Amino acid sequence: MRQATDPIALVSETVQLKPRGNDYWGCCPFHHEKSPSFHVNASTGLWHCFGCSEGGDVFAYVMRREGLDFPDAIRYLADRANIELSEEAGRAQRGSKRARLLEALSEAEAFYTNMLLRSTEDGPAAGRAYFGGRGFGSALCRRWSLGYAPGHQALVNHLVAKGFTRKEIIDADLAVDRNGYARDRFYDRVMFPIHDERGRCIGFGGRVLTDAKPKYLNTRETTVFHKSKHLFAFDRAKEGIVAQDCAIVVEGYTDVIAMHEAGFTNVVATLGTALSHDHIKLLSRFAKTIICMFDGDAAGQRAAEAAIQYLPVTQSDLRCVVLPENKDPMEFISAYGADAMRPHLEASRPLIDFVFDKRLEGYDLRIPGVRVAAMGEMAQLLAPLGNTVLVDDYAMRLADAIGTTPEEAKRAIRSARPAMPADVPTPSAGPVDEPPYDDYVPDDYVPDDGAAAPAADPAPYALSADERRQLDAERELLSLMASNPQSFREHAMRIGSFTWDDPRHEAIAWAILATPEDSSAADVVAAATAAEPTAAQILSGGHLAYTSSLQVSDTVSFLLATVELFSLKRSIRQIRAALQGSESADNSLELLGKASEMQKRVNKLSEYLKGMTNASNLG
Ligand code: UTP
Ligand code: MN
Repeated sequence: MRQATDPIALVSETVQLKPRGNDYWGCCPFHHEKSPSFHVNASTGLWHCFGCSEGGDVFAYVMRREGLDFPDAIRYLADRANIELSEEAGRAQRGSKRARLLEALSEAEAFYTNMLLRSTEDGPAAGRAYFGGRGFGSALCRRWSLGYAPGHQALVNHLVAKGFTRKEIIDADLAVDRNGYARDRFYDRVMFPIHDERGRCIGFGGRVLTDAKPKYLNTRETTVFHKSKHLFAFDRAKEGIVAQDCAIVVEGYTDVIAMHEAGFTNVVATLGTALSHDHIKLLSRFAKTIICMFDGDAAGQRAAEAAIQYLPVTQSDLRCVVLPENKDPMEFISAYGADAMRPHLEASRPLIDFVFDKRLEGYDLRIPGVRVAAMGEMAQLLAPLGNTVLVDDYAMRLADAIGTTPEEAKRAIRSARPAMPADVPTPSAGPVDEPPYDDYVPDDYVPDDGAAAPAADPAPYALSADERRQLDAERELLSLMASNPQSFREHAMRIGSFTWDDPRHEAIAWAILATPEDSSAADVVAAATAAEPTAAQILSGGHLAYTSSLQVSDTVSFLLATVELFSLKRSIRQIRAALQGSESADNSLELLGKASEMQKRVNKLSEYLKGMTNASNLG
């Protein structure tokens, strides 16, 4: 499966990569950075980031990116490569949960579209009329797989007939549980399917045909659908975004469709939520410029104001366009055509500029009391700029408007922020999913426990000895896993988190752990060999499993502790290297914290191992 996965294609789904030497480089998807320190090797599939020192193989990559545990990561990649895992073949043709949800969603997508385009009932006819009235003919509906949800259990019945369980249907949020019955989640709505970066349906937005509320009903968060991560039409827009080095974010699904149909192919929309930090990170990996098209109403203004919190944490040029007459992009294009849109895009303004002017317009600054209030509120609004190069410019403008000195305005902007040790603005509420990182690390930062700091690791890195011992331990562990696969199942997560010295060992470990629970040793060896041709040779290298006087469970504990110990030491060395390579220390504090946690665990493991070797013949 590792071989069946093209690592470059996998990573390129969400990261823009450029070849350099034998590797492909890009900005790390797992931490905030400004210059690429993340690289993937096309032939081995191994990746590493010098910035955050995360790294591993394709499995570790999808675990991290998709938030999966490793058996699901294996299934994810198998599914991606169209490999049928023996486990799935064996278990009543039932794929992984994730794969099943995706199948149900894609079946629902087809069902809704079929309803819209084929059904002669009143509901679907009304749906067709609705779309037709907005200029969406049947060819367009087909292109965008638009649909109609009739409700009345039509979808649930259809999916059950196709072999999906009620639980699967509910888990995909295609139905809700009402007193033990699965009821269609969407009814009497026209449906907009939402796809992931690979074009697979992961959820829906459903619009009422009347004035009923809510106007749009969106799929809730599920295993496969994350509003703060996904964007409507990202799969279709990616190419255009890269080609134009610019992404346009609009508010509505219909806006996206109208824009694409009018030839603007670099357009996406959020899924009924505000723009999140993850959205910005994703888009900024593909384009220098991100243009937000906000509706000209109060909600649009709030959305624009909320987006300026990302200014200090992105390198992208965040810009903004507000169309005249309060029109949204769809309305604008139907009224004036695509050619009239272009000048507005070209006249996009820096987001902060727009937000500043717009907010200031709202005050009657002739009134002294209003001036005082405006100063406070504007300072708060501009607080995210506090630490950026923009602060001087806007302090000046604010001072001019209010009639005070730039120094005074700047002080107000700076003090409007909560004081933080690393001087990082923390957006109070809203869509930010993680605090922004900052380049700034206090000079006098001393980890509170000197002994636990990575720099205090007493043993200098003795490559040959340490590495040999790690390799030995890894081989022992694998041998025991192969000869005694049941004893490892409960430690799967732990094993999955190891940083292996030899990538072949890692491949074998993953393959063994992916085998079904009741596999024989022969099955396990076969699976390992399929993943790594030299497996048999490597697995025969171990001898502890046969010669140790320990109980199997003790041997397991011993080997796990040993491999983990070396794995941690290795990670600590990587962190130290990353911290010394000064070029990208975006998150040094976090790294130091991580390293010190690791060192604590190393100490504990060493202690444990010492106790064990004293009590046995293992040495
Ligand atoms: P709009 O109200 O601007 O809808 O909401 P629209 O896209 O212009 O739709 P039409 O033209 O009236 O059909 C913009 C987006 O906000 C989300 C949806 O994602 C919608 O596309 N939204 C809106 C909701 O999630 N729920 C709602 O109740 C309303
Ligand atoms: Mn709209």
